[in-house]
Amino acid sequence: MVQEMLGGTRITYLGHATFRLTTPGGENILIDPFLTDNPQIPEELKQVGDLDTILVTHGHFDHFADAIPVARQTGATVVANFEISSYVQSQGIENSMPLNKGGTARVGGVKVTGTNAFHASSIQTEDGSTIYGGEPMGFVVEFESGFKVYHAGDTAVFGDMRLIGELYGPDLALLPIGDRVVMSPFEAAHAARLLGVRHVVPMHYGTFPFLPGTPEEFERHARELGLELEIHVMKPGEELGS
Ligand code: NI
Ligand code: MN
Repeated sequence: MVQEMLGGTRITYLGHATFRLTTPGGENILIDPFLTDNPQIPEELKQVGDLDTILVTHGHFDHFADAIPVARQTGATVVANFEISSYVQSQGIENSMPLNKGGTARVGGVKVTGTNAFHASSIQTEDGSTIYGGEPMGFVVEFESGFKVYHAGDTAVFGDMRLIGELYGPDLALLPIGDRVVMSPFEAAHAARLLGVRHVVPMHYGTFPFLPGTPEEFERHARELGLELEIHVMKPGEELGS
């Protein structure tokens, strides 16, 4: 059933909020590249190989740290908000595409829409200073097959997740559950309810001590809400549906 939904798209979890998506046409997309210092990613997956697109939800290190080195190495296009996109260009990366909330860009064979997220966004530069990173986002990615995945980025739950559900109807949501600096498992269950989504992959938990939320708590809250969810708890390095 998962394979039917995916329609030839492959989704690999690289730990924390980092996902690799391979389209039916063979394009590779990396969301929130956190590789070098990501304690969850298997060592052999730190080298990403061929890459077409990098999507960045916001400027915090655990989503952005490897974006510039990987873009430099692979020539992949970086898609991010205006401020991050400008910063990336200032670091010598020409292939950088600004996308803001509400906008949809065609990137290769996929359509990427920027969505709201309630969080912060700043960029830590190499000299240790912090610069403004614009507004944080989530993304809805639509593949050739019509399959849609929503990566929520770092966010609290918000009522307009219902609007994201209405307008885009994602088949699968990648939701943070770590608590403290992102939404809790309790809020994530309500996020799933508002989105009206069927399939959820919990993410952004357990990486650091300040992310104590667990998939078990998320499952319990989803059950209490009576949601008919298929929750896919993925190990870093694992491919969805495998
Ligand atoms: Ni963050
Ligand atoms: Mn984060």
